Amino acid sequence: MYALLFRLVLARFDPEFAHHAGMAVVRVLGAPPFSWIARPLTRPEPRDEVRALGLVFPSPFGIAAGFDKNAVGVRGLSALGFGHVEVGTITAIPQPGNPKPRLFRLIPDRAVVNRMGFNNAGAEAAEKRLWKLRRRRPAAVIGVNIGKSRVVAVEDATADYVASAVRLAPLADYLAINVSSPNTPGLRGLQAVETLAPLLRAVKAAAGATPLLVKIAPDLPDDEVAAIAELAVEEGLDGLIATNTTISREGLITDPAKVAAAGEGGLSGAPLKERSLAVLRIVRAAVPADFCVISVGGVETGAEVRERLDAGATLVQGYTAFLYRGPFWARQIRAGLHAR
Ligand SMILES: Cc1cc2nc3c(=O)[nH]c(=O)nc-3n(C[C@H](O)[C@H](O)[C@H](O)COP(=O)(O)O)c2cc1C
Repeated sequence: MYALLFRLVLARFDPEFAHHAGMAVVRVLGAPPFSWIARPLTRPEPRDEVRALGLVFPSPFGIAAGFDKNAVGVRGLSALGFGHVEVGTITAIPQPGNPKPRLFRLIPDRAVVNRMGFNNAGAEAAEKRLWKLRRRRPAAVIGVNIGKSRVVAVEDATADYVASAVRLAPLADYLAINVSSPNTPGLRGLQAVETLAPLLRAVKAAAGATPLLVKIAPDLPDDEVAAIAELAVEEGLDGLIATNTTISREGLITDPAKVAAAGEGGLSGAPLKERSLAVLRIVRAAVPADFCVISVGGVETGAEVRERLDAGATLVQGYTAFLYRGPFWARQIRAGLHAR
């Protein structure tokens, strides 16, 4: 039903417009009386509960960063059955992001390319929203993903991350440091171990008791993935999120002219599946059993969430398949999770 609606209607709209329209629906679903109707249909089962990071996640499956950049849809996403919502990426300084168009569908690959460039209203605006959310908490756990403001030089990145962490950590169930988006110049260079160590240490000090995770790119060589995982453990972080989007365009079946026309940016969705799973395995082998590993990249079905959990993920996230599968995706995942 949704597949038909997608093909006949939604796919004809500009992807970013469609995203905003979808977000408007999500926001409506988050408020009574719609949330009262949606919640019983989508509520995770008690057996789905995951205890991690000192928190209780109603289900292992959450919505990845980038969908709700300004923490405006958390209630709706919770009502749709996501066990956690990672809001952001939020930057210390508000910014418009890259010029449009900046989001492109590769429909035959069930993928998208984005170069949004951390469009967001900034940490101060997010702080206000998170305050409100905390007064009447949704069921979902709220993660807050922070990144570097574009106007700040890479050499000054630490102070910029710390400014966001100081503001947002007290309001977050967990905080995620994003050093892996391909759309902010120089950002991924922060993943080099010698640069990353002082950054993690400073943000850890600023985050206080809030669990802290770092999100990495899939394009790192295997040995660097392992080195970062070990560093995260050494620096006392609580977890790692793997992975962000890829700059690779290998193995796509979409018309190469269409892929070229999309231009630069991060690729997400089904083509990322294999590498994301491989990175999860490398990370899990490098960290202690109680270290939280969130696997994200290319997940589409409940069986694939199960596969990630079996491969050592503590929690799983997704984004792109939500665009292709529609509002009841988290519910479908829940059903598929138990169908062995
Ligand atoms: C349009 C779009 C925007 C994104 N924005 C962010 C972001 O702001 N911060 C971030 O850490 N990841 C961002 N991501 C990456 C996702 O969180 C996720 O890591 C990636 O898409 C892989 O998962 P998927 O294949 O299920 O989409 C974005 C992804 C998409 C498609």
